[in-house]
Amino acid sequence: MKRIKVIAGNWKMHNDNSAAQQLASQIKIRTTDIKKTDIILCPPFTALTVVHDVIKDTRIGLGAQNVYWEKSGAFTGELSADMIKSSGAAYVIVGHSERRQYFGETDETVNKRTKAALEAGLKVILCVGESLDQRESGITANVVEAQVTGGLSGLTSEQMEDIIIAYEPVWAIGTGKVATPEQAQEVHAHIRGLVEKLYNSDVAAALRIQYGGSVKPDNADSLLSQPDIDGALVGGACLKAETFVPIIQSAEKL
Ligand code: PGA
Repeated sequence: MKRIKVIAGNWKMHNDNSAAQQLASQIKIRTTDIKKTDIILCPPFTALTVVHDVIKDTRIGLGAQNVYWEKSGAFTGELSADMIKSSGAAYVIVGHSERRQYFGETDETVNKRTKAALEAGLKVILCVGESLDQRESGITANVVEAQVTGGLSGLTSEQMEDIIIAYEPVWAIGTGKVATPEQAQEVHAHIRGLVEKLYNSDVAAALRIQYGGSVKPDNADSLLSQPDIDGALVGGACLKAETFVPIIQSAEKL
């Protein structure tokens, strides 16, 4: 089965509304010839509607960077899945390592957010990945396995159609230290094997697994050409059209 590549830009806490409008417009102008690859922009919450206005007549998708699991109520500072959907977003990133590291995210809360997002009709980019210590102690496979199993807990095979997994080794995020294509491929194949065990071979074959962690135009080809790497979740390089669009073009020509 040929999986469609998916390149997502995680803008993190960058770009006010005017900068967001400009960046989205530049990406839009430079991707009119992209016909196969899925493109997703994930600006901060405040810029979702601004970016939506720019890209609404294109095939570029919109995603948020987090979601709360309750539908409404006294949860100051939080946003529900329906609110995110009403901003025009179709995707949400859940369980990014920065959320896990700085905001106390656990596999249990990641799972709650994932379920709430799916129930509201959003697609989820579920992030997993080991720290440097964990890799050096040789427990990468166990860590990733626990995160994938915990994050997907209770999801049906049908719901798996709306899941993208992003494998992002924590030591490669924002460090310029990219996993080698072989290191990434090994973990991606492991995740696909695990999903086959948890579900079945059809679900595993259809699942898209992105790599994230210092993806740049000059390493995109070698990563994206690995058999189990179906796209990229890009941080630093997604903040400029000049570095984000070449990554999309790498995916498009494969
Ligand atoms: P990076 O970030 O590309 O800057 O390493 C990736 C991410 O955190 O999603």
